[in-house]
Amino acid sequence: MSVPTPTVSPTPAPVVPHTSPLTTALAQLASTVEILGYDDGMHQMLATPRRELHVAVPLRRDDGRVELLAGYRVQHNISRGPGKGGLRFAPGVDVDEVRALAMWMTWKCAVVDLPYGGAKGGVAVDPRGCSTAELERLTRRYTSEIMPVIGPERDIMAPDVGTTEQTMSWVMDTYSVNSGYTIPAVVTGKPLAVGGSLGRATATSRGVVHATAAALADAGTDLTQVTAAVQGFGKVGSHATRFLAEGGARVLAVSDEYGGVHAPGGLDVAALLEHVAATGSVVEMPGTEPIDNAGLLALDVDVLVPAAVEDVLDEDTARTVKARWVVEGANGPTTSAGDRVLAERGITVVPDILANAGGVVVSYFEWVQAQQAYWWTEREIEDRLEQRMHSAYTAVAQRARADGITLREAALVIGVRRVAEAHRLRGLYP
Ligand SMILES: NC(=O)c1ccc[n+]([C@@H]2O[C@H](COP(=O)([O-])OP(=O)(O)OC[C@H]3O[C@@H](n4cnc5c(N)ncnc54)[C@H](O)[C@@H]3O)[C@@H](O)[C@H]2O)c1
Repeated sequence: MSVPTPTVSPTPAPVVPHTSPLTTALAQLASTVEILGYDDGMHQMLATPRRELHVAVPLRRDDGRVELLAGYRVQHNISRGPGKGGLRFAPGVDVDEVRALAMWMTWKCAVVDLPYGGAKGGVAVDPRGCSTAELERLTRRYTSEIMPVIGPERDIMAPDVGTTEQTMSWVMDTYSVNSGYTIPAVVTGKPLAVGGSLGRATATSRGVVHATAAALADAGTDLTQVTAAVQGFGKVGSHATRFLAEGGARVLAVSDEYGGVHAPGGLDVAALLEHVAATGSVVEMPGTEPIDNAGLLALDVDVLVPAAVEDVLDEDTARTVKARWVVEGANGPTTSAGDRVLAERGITVVPDILANAGGVVVSYFEWVQAQQAYWWTEREIEDRLEQRMHSAYTAVAQRARADGITLREAALVIGVRRVAEAHRLRGLYP
């Protein structure tokens, strides 16, 4: 398709406040660059987003008022292929958060060896304060504002916090209508009826549970022997809870932004899912005790799955963790200081760029299927996802053991090295 050339300029390395997801992401990169011995030029190439688009998104409310919302699309790196990353609707979205999330997408796609770079988008809006019609207008306007930089060969979106497969359907339709024909591969995580993939809606959570199982197997145990707690009960946390329970783990507590519930003998997950479908939250689930989010992070369980938002495991909360494994369903749930505390305390952290990569793996499958207009069976998708997650975990765990580093350091070493290699092989133009 022909679209205008984007008029966006490269951005300087961002100045960031003391603590933020971007501080964490840049600190992780700095220590990885040190391990790998790269020079300053390469460090800057890896630290700096290739392209950013800041847009004002006018939203006409149902009552006729017009509000201007801030929107972003950041393409952190496109050396290994088109940008790939979610779209987030949340009140706290700012450009630094989007930059951090885009950078993590770059390393994540490289760790699981997908032919993608890393990108992310966001709009600072509370989707719960919007009607469906308002969400549709907002999504379509945001899409049309960022049209020049997205596309199946440029940058491919997917759902993230506050967005759904319906959001992706509106993005795909807006992009297609403006192009004159249907282009399903511009987004992933869309409904099956418009070219989505079997298994995509649950892929991130399945990947989290494959990563958990692999980490447990490394320690000579398995899901049937462990208890777990899951923070966040959205697209990732709810299915992760279900798959953990189906795998034989006892899930003792779950939470969302409204609060949490705890059942010392194990939650009835089927009843919990029904309760959430009926009420919109896990709180007041019959037969459970209330627990707050701080209590959940500190609960005496074997496996803790943070699957909500960034920065929940900081220096202080990390000291309270009793779990032996932390499996990061969310992006950036652990700050650098929190990570140091967990490592000192001998807690194994399966890092976000590995643990939650199942979503982007099946997004890749969806993109491949859409490009070929040929659809795979659910069995093929599930088997290929499991195989990718296990081989990525094995490579990371072997690197960690060989070099005496943490799983996070090993995953970053593998991801960052692959991206740096692509830079070197492509050379610098002109
Ligand atoms: N959706 C995906 O495929 C995918 C893939 C990889 C990573 N992730 C990451 O997983 C995390 C969750 O994403 P999602 O898609 O499930 O989003 P979602 O919007 O579907 O769910 C978010 C959940 O977190 C809860 N929550 C929000 N703030 C909270 C707080 N302060 N304390 C406790 N709970 C809180 C919400 O109530 C909700 O239950 C994010 O970090 C996201 O970037 C998502």
